[in-house]
Amino acid sequence: VKLGVMASGSGSNFEAIAQAIADRQLNAQVELLIYNNPGAKVVERTARWGVPSALFNHREFENREDLDRAIVQALQQAGVEWVIMAGWMRIVTPILICAFENRILNIHPSLLPSFKGNRAVEQALEAGVKITGCTVHLVVPEVDSGTIIMQAAVPVLPDDTVETLQNRIHLQEHQIYPPAIGFASQAFRKKLDSELPNLHRK
Ligand code: GRF
Repeated sequence: VKLGVMASGSGSNFEAIAQAIADRQLNAQVELLIYNNPGAKVVERTARWGVPSALFNHREFENREDLDRAIVQALQQAGVEWVIMAGWMRIVTPILICAFENRILNIHPSLLPSFKGNRAVEQALEAGVKITGCTVHLVVPEVDSGTIIMQAAVPVLPDDTVETLQNRIHLQEHQIYPPAIGFASQAFRKKLDSELPNLHRK
């Protein structure tokens, strides 16, 4: 399966995916990395893995729709079948979501539906929960709300800071993202996509 990764952070999830592909644990190729921050560290990692990258700087676009239209075009030109959001910190519009309907995954650093949004780790600490984690889910227009594909639980320890907890969650993200991509893309291939919205209830 041909993947397009959208990331604008450190790229550790990109690297976990690339490593799983190299180790033949995930039958896929990353055709293109899309990033939106000129300084994003993920670009150094894609260069090392020989993955082409394309910058789409949101500041240079009039609105979210124009940005997403340009991204969809680049992804389609690269022959991308599944879009993998790995630290893409922008809200995506129906333009992207409809172009790759039920074929966009995101990873979020909490056990959804708890702690949606971009302060998930802080909010878990503030709430005093003893277990949090990470979630791979399908992307739908409502943020952090699509069908849950896979989750991992992570303990919150008494002395945790945002950084220590974030690091522990990251390790689990790297464990679950590659198999979640394999599972979701295979399910789609077998034309089970119509069943995906019900999977988490079974
Ligand atoms: C991860 O914590 C993920 O949950 C969130 O963005 C972060 C990306 O980290 N959506 P990295 O760039 O893959 O290291």
